[in-house]
Amino acid sequence: MSSVSLKTEFAGIKLNSPIMTASGTFGFGEEFEDFADFSTLGAIVVKGTTLEPRNGNRGIRIAETPAGMLNCIGLENPGVQFLVNEILPRIGKYNCPIIVNISGNTVEEYGELAKILDIDGVKAIELNVSCPNVKEGGIAFGVEPKSMAAVIKAAKKNTGKPVIIKLSPNVTDIAVMAKAAENAGADAVSLINTLIGMAIDINTCKPVLGNITGGLSGPAVKPVALRMVWQVRKAISLPIIGMGGIMNAQDAIEFFLAGADAVAIGTANFVEPDSTVKIYRDLKKYLEQKNLTDIRDLIGKLRT
Ligand SMILES: Cc1cc2nc3c(=O)[nH]c(=O)nc-3n(C[C@H](O)[C@H](O)[C@H](O)COP(=O)(O)O)c2cc1C
Repeated sequence: MSSVSLKTEFAGIKLNSPIMTASGTFGFGEEFEDFADFSTLGAIVVKGTTLEPRNGNRGIRIAETPAGMLNCIGLENPGVQFLVNEILPRIGKYNCPIIVNISGNTVEEYGELAKILDIDGVKAIELNVSCPNVKEGGIAFGVEPKSMAAVIKAAKKNTGKPVIIKLSPNVTDIAVMAKAAENAGADAVSLINTLIGMAIDINTCKPVLGNITGGLSGPAVKPVALRMVWQVRKAISLPIIGMGGIMNAQDAIEFFLAGADAVAIGTANFVEPDSTVKIYRDLKKYLEQKNLTDIRDLIGKLRT
């Protein structure tokens, strides 16, 4: 029996491992029942949820790029009431902490969503203020410290759950945003959301994506994400969920060394739907090889 433990705690939540799923890439978990092992997941972060149901953007919404993918889903989701009444009762059986990622058009909507989700079955909420694929709201909150702080305060006022703010990489100085989040009372930060990109079809001379621009994710963004996690770790003392291009255990380990307390797996789920299981297995192996017994012995141990 391995003596290595991947159990940890994040913002006061007990986790079976520091491996979470990234919002929008793992559905509500049900889609991955045949591939994932929920007992080894730290948390399922569900698809971005809004007050009203949304159909998302029209046209082509996903395009493959040389080292990743572009998406402009546009927050398609069944709305918060459907999530609460239909989905949460079903996915509660996984016995895996559920974190709900929320998106509002206004500061007040974030508060309203936080209030509705202040219920059993939700362990924390993650504020998406950085979605590049919706016209209203979204990124506007995530690139300006004052409006981001207002969103955090509105959520905190309306929930007793830990509030995680998901930071946008589409800013000049990520550390400034992280500090603003800490000062506004966030309990944790997650980063990064996607980087804004585009692709063009040279035969039609049209953009590939229906929305023209989309969010870039996958291996292409990993060096940027890693650098940002490292910068944020130096700037604040809140717990961090690191993500962006984590495809295997080696990638995850790099994020832990840079200072992430947990990691989230996104695009990798589309390539290998059992990637969270493999990352869990290989992370354990790495700790064994290094004679480490606790994942926390790895966090922030970058030697510079
Ligand atoms: C298809 C798709 C949908 C996404 N939807 C959301 C979302 O609803 N809310 C959100 O905060 N992030 C969303 N993201 C961003 C991911 O959660 C993650 O931050 C990003 O993809 C970087 O991680 P990765 O490179 O491992 O995919 C989405 C990403 C993809 C690829």
